[in-house]
Amino acid sequence: RFIGITTAPPDAILGLTEAFAADTNPQKMNLSVGVYKDASGQTPVLKCVKAAEKWLVENEKTKGYLPIDGQADYRRHVRNLIFGDCVESDRVSVVQTPGGTGALRVAAGFLNSQLAPIRVWISTPTWANHNAVFTSEHVPQEAYRYLADDKKSFDLDGMIDDLTNNTRPGDAVLLHACCHNPTGVDPTAEQWDQIASVVAEKRLLPIIDFAYQGFGNGLAEDTVAVRAILKVCDEAIVCSSFSKNFGLYSERVGAISILSGDAEMAGAVQSQLKTLVRSNYSNPPRHGAAVVATILDDADLTQMWHDELTEMRTRIKRLRQQFVETMKKTGKGHDFGFLLDQNGMFSFSGLNKMQVDELKNKHSIYIVGSGRINVAGMSEDRMDQLCAAIADVIEN
Ligand code: LMR
Repeated sequence: RFIGITTAPPDAILGLTEAFAADTNPQKMNLSVGVYKDASGQTPVLKCVKAAEKWLVENEKTKGYLPIDGQADYRRHVRNLIFGDCVESDRVSVVQTPGGTGALRVAAGFLNSQLAPIRVWISTPTWANHNAVFTSEHVPQEAYRYLADDKKSFDLDGMIDDLTNNTRPGDAVLLHACCHNPTGVDPTAEQWDQIASVVAEKRLLPIIDFAYQGFGNGLAEDTVAVRAILKVCDEAIVCSSFSKNFGLYSERVGAISILSGDAEMAGAVQSQLKTLVRSNYSNPPRHGAAVVATILDDADLTQMWHDELTEMRTRIKRLRQQFVETMKKTGKGHDFGFLLDQNGMFSFSGLNKMQVDELKNKHSIYIVGSGRINVAGMSEDRMDQLCAAIADVIEN
């Protein structure tokens, strides 16, 4: 029966971590998957997380199933962090999901089960898994322009032109709230207002992928896109994740939040989301959400989280700076100054596929095929090694 099953290609991002694990070069460096590493090269468990886990070990009463839509106080915190007091809370349906990918998959399922036929417009380029998630739920996809031809700046005119002239009313549009993955290139607040007014005028359904809150300019500052959309749209979907900002990658903690026109619609939406979840993974995992809720229920732990998040964000900015300066010092005139305008974990280096392959094959340095580098994985100590290798592949 299984004769004829062919081997699937490795995943564009996680497949590289598998290849990295098998690489025997002691000088290897993994700058592919978006995971923060501290100065010692570790992906640390935040101190606030450790404290919450200690509290949970002593006080958690059960490992029984969570409700289909997740833990209530966790859902309340998600709503506050993303929406603040911008909208009436009873208009927002929140469902806890296994990570941001789980949220996107539930969103795609919702489009398919409730809103089909509906197309989704996705930026060029985008996160390597976006298309696959929507394809899995049979949602047809179209591409809008995002990165300018110089591969360094935002193509506002191209994006506005595509959304204005090529979409149909009722289509969905996938937006990256901040720290665009893979480019790190974000619209300004004014540009978000322009984008939001086209989304509203064309009656597009915004789906906001919000995986990096706090990694751009701060927790509140990074809601700029969400606020621009909420000002002008009655309906919106937000897919969020605590993988990065709480460092809870493997605990799979995310949420889908859907804004509806009124509380009654929000109730119906919530019920449909629960139906989707039940036939998929039944109900979400408890631990990560319990950690997040424990931290956000406690003022001291919340402060500790804010401090630790600020430390991660500022260190990434410093690494960007150091990278740009070290590239300059190679003396080969490589100006990567444009990286300083990019936000979040990732930088779009402009390296082509051949150069990316050479970095891997000759130097055991792993970055994503699109040229995306995980700045959050760089280390101060190994910057010279990294920059020398990049200079080498650019020159060959
Ligand atoms: C990334 O883009 O590297 C992260 O979002 C992790 C992933 O699942 O791809």
